[in-house]
Amino acid sequence: MCGIIGYKGGKKSSAILLEGIKNLEYRGYDSVGIATIYDGKIELKKDVGRVDEVNKKLNFLELNGFIGIGHTRWSTHGKPSKENAHPHISNDYSIAVVHNGIIENYNELRKELENEGFKFKSETDTEVIPLLIEKYNKKNDFEKAVIKALRRLEGSFAVIIINKDIDKLIAARRFSPLMLGVGKDEFFIASDSTAFIKHTNDIVFMEDDEMVIIDDGFKIVNITDNKIIDKKIEHNRINYYSAEKGNYRHFMLKEIHEQPRVVENTINYFIKNNSLLHNYKNFNRILIVACGTSYYAGLIGKFLIESIVRIPVEVDYSSEFRYKDPIINNTDLVIAISQSGETADTIAAAKEAKNKKAKLIAICNVFGSSLTRMADTTLYTQAGTEIGVASTKAFTSQLAVLYLFSLHLAKINKLMNEKEINKKIKLMKKLPLQMKKILSNNKIKEISEKNFLSNNSVFLGRGVNYPVALEGALKLKEISYIHAEGSPAAELKHGHIALIEKDMPVVVIAVKDKTYYKIKSNIEEIKSRGGKIISIVNEEDEEIENISDEVIEVPETDLLLYPFLTVIPMQLIAYYTGLCRNCDIDKPRNLAKSVTVE
Ligand code: M6R
Repeated sequence: MCGIIGYKGGKKSSAILLEGIKNLEYRGYDSVGIATIYDGKIELKKDVGRVDEVNKKLNFLELNGFIGIGHTRWSTHGKPSKENAHPHISNDYSIAVVHNGIIENYNELRKELENEGFKFKSETDTEVIPLLIEKYNKKNDFEKAVIKALRRLEGSFAVIIINKDIDKLIAARRFSPLMLGVGKDEFFIASDSTAFIKHTNDIVFMEDDEMVIIDDGFKIVNITDNKIIDKKIEHNRINYYSAEKGNYRHFMLKEIHEQPRVVENTINYFIKNNSLLHNYKNFNRILIVACGTSYYAGLIGKFLIESIVRIPVEVDYSSEFRYKDPIINNTDLVIAISQSGETADTIAAAKEAKNKKAKLIAICNVFGSSLTRMADTTLYTQAGTEIGVASTKAFTSQLAVLYLFSLHLAKINKLMNEKEINKKIKLMKKLPLQMKKILSNNKIKEISEKNFLSNNSVFLGRGVNYPVALEGALKLKEISYIHAEGSPAAELKHGHIALIEKDMPVVVIAVKDKTYYKIKSNIEEIKSRGGKIISIVNEEDEEIENISDEVIEVPETDLLLYPFLTVIPMQLIAYYTGLCRNCDIDKPRNLAKSVTVE
């Protein structure tokens, strides 16, 4: 889950690499490093900390040269330390490597290399790579040595390699993302195009076991059979959203506030391009696979599809799906939901579905990401780049796609006529304004600061709002480090209620649906045990207001559309509570935006 970048061209490489690793920092942020080639030598700076912090201390721009590699780390093997930070260097100081992934047989390789006299400086799995290349680089054929070394690796890798004696960048991948940016007389290679999209929109997506050799041009070979591969350059069609916070203090807040626009864009995009939905007609069953927040969007998708289309839907955590030998066949439709399209578990689940001949739709936010490249169709969410590690606008745009997809299935299965569909779309089009109204509620900040003082909390909802409660709990945990349980409201008395103690905040989604009176009773049960009730209610609902400590109002909408509105108070509560506790909002501890290891 690290970010890697390489550059070769006519500009000062350290400047490009520094900018690139800043844009990749969401992938990991415990240490950073850059290595360049200058005057026949490798120049290297690396240390523990965030990019800006380390740059202030080391000044990466002092590194010279027109070719180099950079890395931002999320540690898997070895604690965050200067020694464990990338790039890693060969013993003879000729080769430097950055790596994203996990080398599963590194122990065995390390022992072999140590027995041959090689010295290790770090505890990482990565260090075996430069040393293996050094071992094989005896015959003046560096490309061959790299291929030989890569063939010895088990596990996942995206690597970029430089050699002080050769004016080339070499990079390869297996199960970790890597893409080549082709500029005018310059080349970029990175985990994600956000690292270089400011410089070029022309991209070559690398596939597993492909290695690229970049000099004045580029050549791609397959590392398993040495065959040269002719690949096409694709033009990125997704807008580049600047990684600027604008007037907002954090990306998370900016992205929360972007949701009305993002939902509107997604609705308009799919109405304009509705042929995108056309391939999919008769399925016996739909399976949804996803992780984290995308999984909760999937749970809501189940409600939407089952209510609107009456096709059974199963939702699985991607990480569980793959290992349970899922029962699927070519009559099933699998929908993989992922903001990044690089989540290793979701990619593995999607592969499993494809192997079993199911049709695969990806709902994804990143153009050309690994998931989109294996899907039969991708429904792109129109959220723009999401930088905050906590997913917010990606979630609501995923909901918009799922809702529109459900309406499409209802239409082609003749469950709704044009008029009914238009009525639903009309209600959907009201959402952006309704979202704006909730976003302008200054009381949410005050409620968060006043009530979230305990180390535990509970989030409750029912029906389509139950996954929203789960998402509310996840957001609070991620951003404020307060323990939070999400639960269906009625399940409370089967166990979770034992947690309730005086002044413990309990957030309850209590909009006017068919379980309204049941939830009202659940609120009474919590209140009588001392919990602090923060209810999310419809406007002017005095009944719930009278039994709650606080209420946050949301406008009335179609029952299935409530998650678009009820999730906003959840996101804001997490944000303001985290802020109050001085947490690192955009880069919470131990997390990374893209979980590219299983
Ligand atoms: O990129 P993906 O949607 O596949 O990511 C899935 C999860 O890792 C992600 O939603 C994670 O749970 C976020 N930190 C939630 O805020």
